[in-house]
Amino acid sequence: MRGKVFIVGAGPGKKDLLTIRALNVIKEADVILYDDLIGEVVEVLNETKAELISVGKRKGFHKFEQEEINRMLADLAKAGKKVVRLKGGDPFVFGRGGEEIEFLAKEGIEFEYVPGVTSAIAVPGAAGIPITHRNCDPAVVFITGHEAKGRLNWSALAKLNATIVVLMGLSNIEKICKNLIENGKDPETPVAVIERGFSKDQRVVDGTLRDIVEKVRSMNVSPPAVIVVGNVVDIMRTIAKVRSEN
Ligand SMILES: C[S@@+](CC[C@H](N)C(=O)[O-])C[C@H]1O[C@@H](n2cnc3c(N)ncnc32)[C@H](O)[C@@H]1O
Repeated sequence: MRGKVFIVGAGPGKKDLLTIRALNVIKEADVILYDDLIGEVVEVLNETKAELISVGKRKGFHKFEQEEINRMLADLAKAGKKVVRLKGGDPFVFGRGGEEIEFLAKEGIEFEYVPGVTSAIAVPGAAGIPITHRNCDPAVVFITGHEAKGRLNWSALAKLNATIVVLMGLSNIEKICKNLIENGKDPETPVAVIERGFSKDQRVVDGTLRDIVEKVRSMNVSPPAVIVVGNVVDIMRTIAKVRSEN
């Protein structure tokens, strides 16, 4: 009998932010292929008897190519195993889960998507930044900081009146800010960078498009971090002010 692949989101790092469905399939899995998970959520791997295979990145290079991971998922399922593919956040938000289900579908393998809490929304929230607010921009755009092929229309993005959330953006933060300013975004637009959200080491850098690069450098901020560009960052400031006055 054929097995099945569960494409599972591990959330932004805290163990109790895993969904109940995720926890159940992890506990019942025969084999788990997992990425380098951020935070204490990795402890969940101690709660399963499944075979554990780490397929994450190390120091900038992939331990496994995506094609190899796809093949392993399909072959394990064909061998009758219950396979969990565990990824940080939500598997379909800059997580290559889409490529995996395309491959599995072509191979005729049954799969199930188990959503995770995405860092794109939850990490700003952990810093007191609601991703939308009625008094702020009426749209949210999620972008990857690794926009290798130059397909992003910076001119449109800068003019969109949207909150911009950048994942994997730290190494390109200078270019991102420069592109937005050069395309007409106000240099005084608030920007927050949230490093290691939901961990005991969480740090927030508060600035503007004009000065955030300098601040991030002087504080030695390192990945993983989420960048938020837009007036919603002001909500975090207001809350901090109110709290300091109480
Ligand atoms: C390869 S992307 C995967 C995103 C994931 N699928 C999600 O939905 O959150 C990895 C990026 O997510 C962001 N990220 C994930 N967890 C984070 C956390 N706990 N704190 C800050 N950034 C985080 C960072 O921008 C990091 O570079």
